[in-house]
Formats: sequence, structure tokens, C-alpha cells
Amino acid sequence: MTHPRRWEKVFWVFAPLLLSFLFTTLPSQKGNARVRMRLDDNWRFHLGDIPSSLQGVPITQWYWQQGENDPKDVITYSNPQFDTSQWNTATPGQDTFHGRVGYSWYRTLLPSVTYPQPMLHFDSVDDNATVYLNGKFLLHHEGWDDPFNVPLQSAWRPNGPNVLLVLVQNTAGAGGIGNTLLMPYVNLDAARGPALPSYNDSQWRVVHLPHDFVVEGNYDEKADGSHGFLPTNVAWYRKHFYIPASAKGKSIWLYFEGIYRDSRFWLNGHFLGRHQSGYIGVRYDISPFLHYGAWNVLAVRVDARRAEGWWYEGGGIYRHVWLTIADPIHITPWGVFVTSQLPSSRQALLTIQTTVTNASHQSRGPVRLLSLILDATGQTVARSSSTLFVPPGQTRQLVQNISLSNPHLWSLESPYLYTAISRIEQGNDVLDEVKTEFGVRTIEFRADTGFYLNGKPVKLLGTCNHQDFAGVGIAMPDNLLWWRIAKLKEMGSNAYRCSHNPPSEELLTACDHLGMLVMDENRHLGDVYSPKTPHGAPYSDLSDLKAMIQRDRNHPSIIMWSMCNEEPLQGTEEGARIFAAMKRVVLSLDPTRPVTCAMNGDWGKGISNVEDLQGGNYNPGGYDWFHEHFPNKPFFASEAGSTVSDRGIYENDPQKGYVSAYDLNAPPWAQTAEDTWRPVAERPFVAGCFVWTGFDYRGEPTPYWWPCVNSHFGLMDMCGFPKDNYYYYKAWWGDKPIVHILPHWNWQGQEGKPISVWCYSNADEVELFLNGQSLGKKPMPKWGHVEWSVPYQPGTLEAKAYNAAGQTVATDVVETTGPAAALRLRPSTTTLPADGEEVALIEVDVVDAQGRTVPTADNLVHFQVSGAGTIAGVGNGDPSCHQPNIADYRSAFNGKCMLVVRAGEHAGLIHVRASADGLAPAEVTLTTTPSSLK
Ligand code: GAL
Repeated sequence: MTHPRRWEKVFWVFAPLLLSFLFTTLPSQKGNARVRMRLDDNWRFHLGDIPSSLQGVPITQWYWQQGENDPKDVITYSNPQFDTSQWNTATPGQDTFHGRVGYSWYRTLLPSVTYPQPMLHFDSVDDNATVYLNGKFLLHHEGWDDPFNVPLQSAWRPNGPNVLLVLVQNTAGAGGIGNTLLMPYVNLDAARGPALPSYNDSQWRVVHLPHDFVVEGNYDEKADGSHGFLPTNVAWYRKHFYIPASAKGKSIWLYFEGIYRDSRFWLNGHFLGRHQSGYIGVRYDISPFLHYGAWNVLAVRVDARRAEGWWYEGGGIYRHVWLTIADPIHITPWGVFVTSQLPSSRQALLTIQTTVTNASHQSRGPVRLLSLILDATGQTVARSSSTLFVPPGQTRQLVQNISLSNPHLWSLESPYLYTAISRIEQGNDVLDEVKTEFGVRTIEFRADTGFYLNGKPVKLLGTCNHQDFAGVGIAMPDNLLWWRIAKLKEMGSNAYRCSHNPPSEELLTACDHLGMLVMDENRHLGDVYSPKTPHGAPYSDLSDLKAMIQRDRNHPSIIMWSMCNEEPLQGTEEGARIFAAMKRVVLSLDPTRPVTCAMNGDWGKGISNVEDLQGGNYNPGGYDWFHEHFPNKPFFASEAGSTVSDRGIYENDPQKGYVSAYDLNAPPWAQTAEDTWRPVAERPFVAGCFVWTGFDYRGEPTPYWWPCVNSHFGLMDMCGFPKDNYYYYKAWWGDKPIVHILPHWNWQGQEGKPISVWCYSNADEVELFLNGQSLGKKPMPKWGHVEWSVPYQPGTLEAKAYNAAGQTVATDVVETTGPAAALRLRPSTTTLPADGEEVALIEVDVVDAQGRTVPTADNLVHFQVSGAGTIAGVGNGDPSCHQPNIADYRSAFNGKCMLVVRAGEHAGLIHVRASADGLAPAEVTLTTTPSSLK
């Protein structure tokens, strides 16, 4: 086993040395080019809020009644003698609106306290609050998920009574007052408890990022089912890090790629800020608050209790954290944008827009901006040099045009990437250097014939996906993001929709490198953090949207920007106004891609009138109608399918929460796989579709609820094991001949009973054999399947797929297996970098004596992992499994389960052993290799 504590000590002893070393030796040329490193290891973690952080008297009961915003009522209800016996009662957090839009008056008598400066702290008022004390107006607050404070001193009666009145306005969904505390006045952002540098966190757990604390919890029927029945919470993280004295005078910033959600940050007790979004990162300039030549303490409070969506969203610092130390004259973060035009196939015209900041207080004279273009082998193929002067405290933008001869185009088959090196030089000094990968390609959407990449038509064969996985939740290591994209590509998919939020940056890098088109999606319409945007939502800030575009715009894989999904305002003028404001922001930062969103219904109305592409969710019956009425607007199926099925299940079982894998089940708004793909395939004007979903995800356990804890929509389950529908798509999306038989052939006890046998194939004909005897040849209907009714007898079912000339082009076999006899382990990789993050996915099969997976086996498998790695999590694809996600055991589900093993931070061997009662155990050894700092 790794001894994290011992390694941690070693690390801390060497950290100052290491940082000074990096800082003085990293630049390849004379000067002090930036140091950029991850701050992912050795975080101290505490689940739950620290009770001392807010102390006071909770308000436990309210009286309320429906009302209007009428000032006369304030006078009446503020009278201490007013009788509330006819009013309703509510406890904190109770929904009293149940979707009603309008007002309610809430009243309570505040307990007597002796605080010199009493204050109320509201965790939330859903949606808007107007607060009165003893008849005096104190404050109006907008926003349902935003804690706020109300100092009471100006209206407080020290000897009581104190009548508190709150006019609550609800604009959509649930409404009411959350937890409220009567407390002495404090500045909530001032450092207290764990935010104080002196706080003792030595008893806290040590975690390595990415980290999801919600996935570590236990399933609970009382928790929110749409979020996967895993309780959410508040948590604290603390990180100690050393900054060398030589960094004084530099620009230093911290960048958090993603935290779910509502985080507050303190560095050495100084409040850096609050960041609400769970899906887009935040950056803080920390140079003024650092201790140089000394240790620094960063504290982060995360509150994952509120939802931004209706699927599993996890909780914690679940993406990388970066520390950058740069010269005060540096390339502004996200300050390089490379675009290309292709006047001919022999020449690309590159435009490089570079923003440079001078954060120092002094004028340092002009600098040179050198942009080098490197091809995929690292050879410099073009360059441009310009001089610019950035006055102190300002930023300047410079545009360079570079011609590139005989460019290699980025395509799905050959995702060729160039690198732009942006270097700032002064005399012989390199002040800063940044690398940007980009691709040269053209994209176009045509209203009648769909999408074109480099002038060639490409049907979008897409899937929508959320960001969690078996075992790890949303704490997705980089190599797992790559693995998932590769799995989708293997199925024949060429497009990925980041539903319904900006993804991890590494996911986009994987799409660039592997050749996968991307629909990049923003979380909210306007500036809100509620799952759906209510009427009246503000849209003046749009900083999360800006960040997404600036962060992602160099990725050649991204072919469209999606602003939102299925918003109630989608078909309205108000929705169109918000969308238009968002589109202006997008175009100001990237004029090269179309702007769209995903609309369920209302096509042709509201947002439709201002977006570039019509994204249509479901409703395949409306495709032709749309095209007829809006013949000039390109159309694609932004969401389709929602077919439900479970791996290895062939009969619906509402009690257990299982759905059959025959392509027969879809909720009322959804379609089977065949009814999803056929309408898209048949219509050239439909640019393609994004099937809901590539992988199962936690939450949304449609069509059943508890005991199910995850969705059944995936073409692959939570572990990435293919379901039968995966092969339907592989047949019609892939470029190789295949045939796939379903179901399995282990129907012991059902001898003679007719079993429906289906085959998916892209061949011309399929012939089925039972124990060598032909059951007939059938022509394969385009975009369909073939079916036989076969009286069960144990043995072998074989399918042969033939081409038009009658040659066998593919075969598949399912066999009746013997009883479970052994375990088999198949790792996704046998080598890992010793970086404390990356994982190997170990596919575990329960096999019979002949090594065939037993498709009904559910043995409980125990794992022992020792040496240079640890268990990151376990899974099995069973949507109703309540075993913990992080454990050293897991039951097989229909013959399979998965162990996720994470590399430690020192190189060595990881020994993995799996055992189960009555079965021969299995072992595998992985090797971790020294990893350079990232
Ligand atoms: C869609 C929605 C998705 C998911 C799906 C389930 O309407 O956009 O987020 O909820 O339904 O079928």
C-alpha cells in the first residue's frame, strides 16, 4: 500500500526546493518564462460545514399566507398583536408555492437576543425577498439560491417584541424560505474557522484532485432522485503551498478549472471571492496576498447543496487547479486565439490574435511578440514577429497574419494539430511563452444538405453525455476522459454534445486529438444558476458564457456553440432577447462558429428566430414540418433517442428497476433506437443527431424511480460496457461489417420456450444457426434489425452476415455457458504515469470453466490492491445497485463488474487481486512510471 502520509511529508520537505528549481530552471532561454503547474495533490478535505463558522439562533417556524405586494399589509401584519392563528405554518426549506407564481407573506416573532448588532442570515429565499422588521423596510433581495444578510440594528427593539415580515415572491417551481439564522453581525466573507491560516487541519483527510465528495456517500431514498439519491453537502478544502522569495514581483494566479459548486476562496485569510458556477472555472490574481519565501494557505468552501441541473452533479474540486507564475508582462490568460481561412487547399491564412498584459506599475518599454507555428512533428513551419508597447496596468491586443503553405487539414480520419508558440521577448530575455494547439479546417452548415467538414458532407453521428462515470463520479481523471471518447469513436460516433454544460478542458483536447466533433454547451440562459431560467432572469453579466468561449475557442473539434437546453423561455420574445445578447457576446469573441441551442418544441418561435442553426430535441415527426416552413435554416437533432435499456436484461422488471435491452422501451417523449436513427438517416437536410446518451449517468432513473439510482438511457452502461443498442448504432454508424446477436443464450429451465432472437447488422443478409442448423436467412432491412423466434435449447447460436455476393463478412456467436468457475481481469492499460490521478479500468468477468462470460452471474467480487496504486472506485452497470461507489468489493451484474485503480505518486508495481467465493481468483499487475510534474 502507498503511505500517503509518509509521501506527503517527503513532498513537503522538498516542495520549496522543487518550486525554486522549477522557477529558476524551467525556461529554455534566458529570462523568466512562466511556470505553470498543477496544484492537485495534498489537499486537506473536510466533509460538512464547520459548525463554528456560523453561530446564532435558527428560525424554526414561520407563519405564512398567500398575498399581494401591498404596503398596507406591512402595517397590519407588523403589529405585534396581529393574530396569525388563521395562517399556515412552514418550517425552513418547506415548499409552500408548489409551482404557484406570485407572493406570500411570511411572519415570525424573533427570539430575544442580546447581540449588540443583531443580523439575520438567510441561506435562501426562493425566489425574491423583501424584508421588514417592526414595519420598517430593510432590504430587497433577488435570486433564489443566493445567501444574504440583513443587519437589523436600525429597526431592532432591544426589549422586543421584534416582528419579522418577509414578502416572498415565487417566479417558477418551488418557493419558500430556507434556513435562517439570527446571529451577531459578522462579515461572512471575513476569514473565520478553516478560512483562517492558523486553523489546524492536521486531522483532515488528504485527497488528490480531481475529487468528488458526493460520490463517496451512501444512497438514500430521501435524497434527490434526479441527482441519483446521493446526499449533497458543504465541504472544505485546504492546501498549503510554498512560494519562493524569487517570485516576488511576478504575476501569480490560481486557476480552478471546475468546482461543484458555489465556492468561496481565502488565501492566507484574505477573501479572494465567490464563484457560483459548477461548470466553468475561475481565476484569481494572488500576487498581492502571497507570503514570499514562505508557506501559504488556501481555503476553499464548497456548497454542493443546490442544483444547477436535473442529473447527478457531484460535489467538490473535481477538475484541476493550476498555479501560474509569470512575468508582469505576460500573455493574458486565454489571450491567444488562432483562426484560419483556406482560400485554396494549398494555402491557409492564419490570424493570430494575442492579448498581452503589463501588470507592473512601471513602463518597461516595447516588447517583441514572436508567434511560431509548429507542425505535428515539432518543426517550425511559419513565424511572425511584431513589436508592441503595453503601458503599465494595461492590456493590448495584436493581430498577426501568417500564411501556411500546403496545410494539413484537421479531419475525423486525420485530426492533424498545429501548435502556436506565442513568445514575448525583450532584448535577449524571454518574458513569457504560451503554447496553443489548433487545427486548420473549414465548417459549414447547409439548410438542405447538412454539415460539411473541409467541404465534404459529414452526417453528425453524435451522442449527448454528462460527465460522471462508475466509481469516480464527476472526478474524472484525464485519461478516463480520453478513454470515453475513444469508446464512442469505436462505436462509429463522430460527434459529442457536452450536455448541458461546458466540459473539462481535457475532454476537448481528447476530441481534438482523436477526431470527434463537439457541440459545446453553456449551462444557463442568462445569468442564473437555477436548473431552468425563470421569467425576468438578468443577462447583463454573462461572464460564465464569456469564459467558456475564451477557454474553448481554439479547439478545432468544436463546430457550434450551444447556449442552453430546453428552456421554458425558448419560444418567447424574452428568451430571444436573452439569446441575442448571448450571441453578441459569442460573436465578439469568436465569429467563426454558428450559435445554436437545443429546443424541445417551439421550433420557429422565440430563440429560433435569432439562432444560426435550429437544434431540435425529440419530435422526429416535426423534422419535415420545420424544413418546409424554414427552408433556409439548417437543422440538426440536438437530442434524440432517450431509449431505455439495461445491459443483459431481457424483460422489464419495475420492482427491481430493470428495463429490457430489446429495442422496445422509451418514455412518452422519446423513441426506440430504430425510430431515432431512421428519421435522421432518411433526411439529408437533417445534419445529424445527438443520441441521449452515450453512457449511462447517475440520476434521472427514468422510467422507474427508487430503487434505481442511475439512468438507463446509455448505449453503454456506467462502466462503459456496451448494451445491445450500442451495436445497432455501430452497425449503421461504423465503417466495418458487423453482426450482433441478442439476447444471451443461458435460459436454463426454459427449454422449448420460444425466445425472440434479434440481430443487428449492416450486411445484406443474416443467417442464424442453432447448434449448426440454419434457422433461415433474412434480408437486413436498412436501419432496422432481423428477428427469429427460436425455441430454446442449450448450445450455440451463430449469426453469419453476408454481402450481396453471398460472402460471409461478419459473424457473432452466443453460447450457453457452464456455471461460474473463475474471475478474469482485463485492464484498459497496464502502465500508468505515477501522477496520483490517472486510472486503469479493470474489466472483471465471471467466467465458466471454458473462459466464457456467464451472462447472468452476480457473484460478489472482493478486490485487493497493493503497491503503487489505490482503489479509485467500483461499478457494475446495475442501475439499482446501492453498494458504495468507493469500496473494495462489488457484485457482478450480468457477468461483469469494474474496478477503477488509480496510480499513486511514486513509480512501482500495482498488484490487483480479485476473488469471489467458490471461484478461481484472478490477478493482474500494473506498472506506474515516473511522471513529470504537469
Ligand atoms: C431531455 C433533456 C435531458 C434529459 C432527457 C431524458 O428532455 O434535455 O436533459 O432529461 O430529456 O429523456
